[in-house]
Amino acid sequence: MTRPFGKLLLFGATGDLSQRMLLPSLHGLHADGLLTDGLTITGTARSEMDDAGFRAFAAKALDEFLPDDRKDPATIQGFLDRLHYQPLDASTIEGFDALATKLGDISGGLAIFLSTAPSLFGPTIEGLKSAGLTGDNVRISLEKPLGTDLDTSRQINDIVASAFPEERTFRIDHYLGKETVQNILALRFGNALFEPSWNARGIDHVQITVSETVGLEGRAGYYDGSGALRDMVQNHMLQLLALIAMEPPSRFDGTAIRDEKVKVLRSLRPITDADKLTVTGQYGPGAVGAKIVGSYEEELGRPSTTETFVAIKAHVDNWRWQGVPFYLRSGKRMAERRSEIVVQFKPVPHSIFSERGGALQPNTLVIRLQPEEYVRLLVMAKEPGLDRDGVRLREVPLDLSLTTAFAGTRRRIAYERLLLDLIEGDPTLFVRRDEVEAQWVWIDAIRQGWIDQGVRPKPYASGSWGPNAAIALTEKDDVTWNE
Ligand code: BG6
Repeated sequence: MTRPFGKLLLFGATGDLSQRMLLPSLHGLHADGLLTDGLTITGTARSEMDDAGFRAFAAKALDEFLPDDRKDPATIQGFLDRLHYQPLDASTIEGFDALATKLGDISGGLAIFLSTAPSLFGPTIEGLKSAGLTGDNVRISLEKPLGTDLDTSRQINDIVASAFPEERTFRIDHYLGKETVQNILALRFGNALFEPSWNARGIDHVQITVSETVGLEGRAGYYDGSGALRDMVQNHMLQLLALIAMEPPSRFDGTAIRDEKVKVLRSLRPITDADKLTVTGQYGPGAVGAKIVGSYEEELGRPSTTETFVAIKAHVDNWRWQGVPFYLRSGKRMAERRSEIVVQFKPVPHSIFSERGGALQPNTLVIRLQPEEYVRLLVMAKEPGLDRDGVRLREVPLDLSLTTAFAGTRRRIAYERLLLDLIEGDPTLFVRRDEVEAQWVWIDAIRQGWIDQGVRPKPYASGSWGPNAAIALTEKDDVTWNE
């Protein structure tokens, strides 16, 4: 690992992500002594402000978004002292020299975090180049959306590549910063138990669900041009799928892990029958929890054909996964907030219990990523008794609650991990260009199918599990979504 960088520069420093995630995460790293003493954090955005103004802005964000037990005034003050601010209109090149002057000596290294509108990527890179802020000791981290399809994502990647080589480009998928997502690697490659049956011989199908109860959250401008497929499946869900389906990498490093993930992403079977293998939906009015909520179009204030729900039956065409469906679904305004992976194993080849009346269920492994964090293996057990009326068997959970097992360990925000890795230069949990492009190739074909086959989102009630057709998608394979 290379030496920690001395300066951090945040574009979009007054934005929502910065307030909710970046500033609290950086504060968390500071509070735990993980940032080197001299590391400064310079924010930049359009708003006119000085250092004091930005520190007041950050103090307010921390007050709002830090848990109460993390609000030690002296620690917060120490963190605020690291902050600086330079106003900048990134759409023109003029202000970048002043930004460079503000940053001062960057010979100790500079890590840039870009979280701005996609239209500003190009001008920002040009501005950084012109101000000499792209040298060998500068790294850049990019937050989504990085394009809306393969072409636009390539354009962005080309622009960035004109100033930063791939090894200094860190693309964020915040799911990879989540502890439970990294735990998939620990579960698969830290235990001998699973690997022998982790394939088409042992596994019947896999389900990946990322459901949310929130709606548009004031992000209409972005979301309506994106939709569930591009907002959630193209990135987070395909990364989860890749971690579940990848071959064992030879070592835990950025090259080995990303090489294996990209092979999976390139093995995704192109979806040609989008009308048969996918279902899209858009939420209508309903109730989420006890709260009555309006429809997507009401929230948006106009008619729209953007999907807020998508379900897909996917396949990975390689030896390991031949014939194993991967059912993916994600939606807004659903019954519950839940991210989970369900691995459904195959039945035992022969039951010795059937003549004694005992019915077997195949094993199920549930990896719950959020809101709870657990790994649960459903196994068959014999009910206590003398079995005079036959053997009674029942599915019981073998439970590993990560919250309980690691009680007392603070749960970090995904961005804490990613920001620290960026500062320290470890690319393992960032998405490589070839991965992003393989993801887009698969997603673009689905979208093209929707256009060609006239697929329109079906209405579903807010607070439900999506349109009925999503149930039919799995039921015709005799599979039920885990709910
Ligand atoms: C973001 C999407 O990438 O992930 C949002 O743009 C979504 O629409 C969010 O709400 C979900 O993240 P998390 O960490 O809350 O599961």
